[in-house]
Amino acid sequence: MTTVAVTGSSGKLGRHVVHHLQEHGYRVVALDRVPDPGSAAAVSVRVDLTDHGQVVEALTAVDDRHDGLDAVVHLAAIPAPGLTTNAATFSNNITATYNVFAAARTAGIRNIVWASSETVLGLPFDTAPPYIPVDEGYPVRPESTYSLVKSLEEEMARHFCRWVPELKMIGLRFSNVMDPEDYARFPAFDADPQLRRWNLWAYIDGRDGAQAVRRALEHEATGVDVFVIANADSVMSRRSADLAAEVYPGVPVTRELGEHETMLSIDKARRVLGYEPRFSWRG
Ligand SMILES: NC(=O)c1ccc[n+]([C@@H]2O[C@H](COP(=O)([O-])OP(=O)(O)OC[C@H]3O[C@@H](n4cnc5c(N)ncnc54)[C@H](O)[C@@H]3O)[C@@H](O)[C@H]2O)c1
Repeated sequence: MTTVAVTGSSGKLGRHVVHHLQEHGYRVVALDRVPDPGSAAAVSVRVDLTDHGQVVEALTAVDDRHDGLDAVVHLAAIPAPGLTTNAATFSNNITATYNVFAAARTAGIRNIVWASSETVLGLPFDTAPPYIPVDEGYPVRPESTYSLVKSLEEEMARHFCRWVPELKMIGLRFSNVMDPEDYARFPAFDADPQLRRWNLWAYIDGRDGAQAVRRALEHEATGVDVFVIANADSVMSRRSADLAAEVYPGVPVTRELGEHETMLSIDKARRVLGYEPRFSWRG
């Protein structure tokens, strides 16, 4: 059985990931500074990831809770700009991620999947995207401290993989994470195309996000790679091509878009990881 640690396991995305991995036969070691009493994980350990010693222990062995890991899924972070000060976001997120990457190296773990973010694509697109649909094909454009950290983490992963050639690190650039309860708000987005233009009207159902994590864990490769992870459709009932033309006139649309097709391209995740979203707010 594969034993995998999930950091941020009590969070919005983490709870789906823990549940999904346990369902698919993984033994999950949940790591978070806030316990989740309803966790589906086999093992839960409270840990502050900004403390390097705690992270080394948590990823190596913790008494009778676990005696080693095959993989790490790192999701823990302050998950958006503006939730606290920029300095606090920077300090928590970069320190936690360095500690997880470095402790995994110390523990000899060769399979790491972590949460990057759609924000590195240039959200909120006050500067228009270079083309639509956006994808992994242009350099990162962080526009906030939160996103800057995500960009630095991708760069950090590049060097960890250079130092350890057997290592695989996959960064998943998740869109805005949604639970099924959130879908009640979606019809209201339709009235004003400006409301959700900041992420090109995309979203990710937490359950599909969890699928992407599992596909990334199971993908056989070495080195670093990044993937945009969104649902197949937009949050809007208007046609994607019409939204792009109205809100971003002059931005090249590089191919014909399906009626409600996501403008955060998931082509690479589909092709390389076999990711295929199963859920939609449309039911
Ligand atoms: N929510 C979104 O829309 C979204 C979009 C793109 C990317 N992401 C990324 O996905 C990941 C998960 O996001 P989420 O929405 O589940 O966030 P969340 O806030 O619901 O969960 C994050 C979890 O991380 C834990 N955590 C934070 N700092 C920690 C630390 N120093 N030590 C231990 N635990 C710590 C928190 O206790 C929390 O349970 C994050 O990396 C976030 O940046 C989220």
